[in-house]
Amino acid sequence: MTTAPADIPEARTGEEPGTPPLLAVTDLTMAFPGRRSATGRRGAPVKAVDGVSFTLRSGETLGLVGESGCGKSTTGRMLVRLLEPTSGSIRFEGQEIARLSPGAMRPHRRHLQMVFQDPHSSLNPRQTVARIISDPLLVQGWSAADARARAAELMELTGLIPEHINRYPHEFSGGQAQRIGIARSLATSPRLVVADEPVSALDVSVQAQIVNLMERLRDELGLSYVFIAHDLSVVKRVSDRVAVMYLGRIVEIGDKHALYDSPQHPYTRALLSAVPLPDPAAERRRERITLLGDPPSPASPPPGCSFHPRCAKAQEVCRTERPLLRIAVPGEAREVACHFPGD
Ligand SMILES: Nc1ncnc2c1ncn2[C@@H]1O[C@H](COP(=O)(O)OP(=O)(O)O)[C@@H](O)[C@H]1O
Ligand code: SF4
Ligand SMILES: [Mg+2]
Repeated sequence: MTTAPADIPEARTGEEPGTPPLLAVTDLTMAFPGRRSATGRRGAPVKAVDGVSFTLRSGETLGLVGESGCGKSTTGRMLVRLLEPTSGSIRFEGQEIARLSPGAMRPHRRHLQMVFQDPHSSLNPRQTVARIISDPLLVQGWSAADARARAAELMELTGLIPEHINRYPHEFSGGQAQRIGIARSLATSPRLVVADEPVSALDVSVQAQIVNLMERLRDELGLSYVFIAHDLSVVKRVSDRVAVMYLGRIVEIGDKHALYDSPQHPYTRALLSAVPLPDPAAERRRERITLLGDPPSPASPPPGCSFHPRCAKAQEVCRTERPLLRIAVPGEAREVACHFPGD
């Protein structure tokens, strides 16, 4: 599928017009080999990501939402080249990186970092914090002494106590461990951080502290984020724009205010109708849209609009023709993949 990356109405940083976006992703696809059955035959490939396109400007945060299994993590891992895409283009600061070899990728790697969901399982339990945070710097050729000094600085920046530099991950709480993960991601002064559900594994009381920290760091350091989450309230708070994924594809993307105020895709409407409202009276009045059944397997996606088996608005055309992402609200830089967008 060919879709044009969405236009962005304004850049937070006020950069020169005509500057290429920090990141431009076009038709990104990841097909994992199908599982082998008991007879040894391989099943159909799993198209975990199927033609994803978007752009991200410097200083901007794009929220990526959707049910478990829709391809958010796979997309994030391709962006930082932990996974090589099956096809498609990733232009970072104007340069194509989708198929660079590990050696050719090295100078770019320091600008593209990732924060993972479960801080404890993503930190090596046998390494000290000093080692964990310094590691990306040692790979970049820093001396051990300089890397250690930088690790102590990063601990301070992320609200940790630098004197704890020789401790091990199990000596920290979940929130502190995620601060270590964030400090490690910032060691090489990246421009883009892909945060894959960075607060989902934390207690609610700690989530706000980590989100605050990430917002402060973005503003102080001029970072850009791709922020992956299934909690739509968190995404609303941190994002400038939001992309909603369903079965490997973006079904709606746009400015967060516009998207949250008037969702156009039936799937976005259903997701948002499940977010609790702060006002109890409004909560009682509002209509919940229940999704029918579970998401289908990406190994055998339904034909036409892959959302049609769960969509209350589905018509005959939805079963046969795949809707492309296109502008749904005139004058708004919002794209929706639906034959019948809106109410
Ligand atoms: N290494 C892999 N091999 C085969 N299938 C995978 C692999 N990683 C993910 N998948 C499949 O790809 C789909 C998308 O997974 P993922 O990107 O983890 O989704 P999300 O992060 O939105 O929950 C799922 O169906 C998952 O089972
Ligand atoms: S294209 Fe049809 S089935 Fe798909 S979301 Fe729109 S109305 Fe529903
Ligand atoms: Mg995931």
